[in-house]
Amino acid sequence: MTTAIIGTGGLGSIIARQLASGGEALRLSSANNESARTLAAKIGSAAVVAAGNRDALQGAEAVVLALRFTVLKGVIDEIAGSLTGKLVVVPSNPLSTDAQGNVRRLLPKGQSSGKVVAGWLSAGARLAMAFGTMSADLFESSSNRSPESAVLFYATDDGRAGEEVERLIRTAGFEPVKVGGVEQSDRLEVGGDLHDLVVGPAEARSLIAAPNGGS
Ligand SMILES: NC(=O)c1ccc[n+]([C@@H]2O[C@H](COP(=O)([O-])OP(=O)(O)OC[C@H]3O[C@@H](n4cnc5c(N)ncnc54)[C@H](OP(=O)(O)O)[C@@H]3O)[C@@H](O)[C@H]2O)c1
Repeated sequence: MTTAIIGTGGLGSIIARQLASGGEALRLSSANNESARTLAAKIGSAAVVAAGNRDALQGAEAVVLALRFTVLKGVIDEIAGSLTGKLVVVPSNPLSTDAQGNVRRLLPKGQSSGKVVAGWLSAGARLAMAFGTMSADLFESSSNRSPESAVLFYATDDGRAGEEVERLIRTAGFEPVKVGGVEQSDRLEVGGDLHDLVVGPAEARSLIAAPNGGS
């Protein structure tokens, strides 16, 4: 199957490599497509560079928006007409970093990025918050773990999106575990209780049920 990846920076490039290793065909785009071209050359025939963000969605069943939160809405608006019927995977953490390296959450405490992103999408798009639950390095090093796969948590309100993102998570070399609806995305982001965890499915399920989860 084919997945579009818009944003081929620190995280998008690792997601692309993992999905391609698992047999997914990819259509890549980035701000000026230079990083997309470099990445496609490394991946080989499984990845093609699209003419732009909208073109990336041509023939793709899903799109991963591996973008900083500050540019996410602009790109969603740009590709809105092409998202109907597709799985939209958002790994973005709602953070910005200033010149001194200070990290700041862009949304008020308690406001879930999943809810905010859901409000930006039109009705026909199926959202799953996923693939941003650990740092890019950890994501790469814990994929295809043996004998027990590591878990990648996801959040969605949509049953079909859940099935589709589970396929992508397995393709990338992880075991999918749903944390809940998109309002639970703050548990998955930097600072959340489930962020940067490398655990197996049994531990993942007990952590989800923990009484302090999501607080
Ligand atoms: N890096 C991590 O370890 C990590 C872990 C978990 C979650 N995340 C989340 O993942 C998201 C991406 O992080 P990152 O570290 O990959 O950021 P990044 O390295 O800055 O990459 C951002 C990518 O977005 C592309 N881009 C910017 N504007 C665009 C536009 N208008 N259209 C298409 N592409 C555009 C850039 O294109 P160019 O390459 O052409 O400049 C770049 O490829 C963030 O929200 C972050 O919170 C990151």
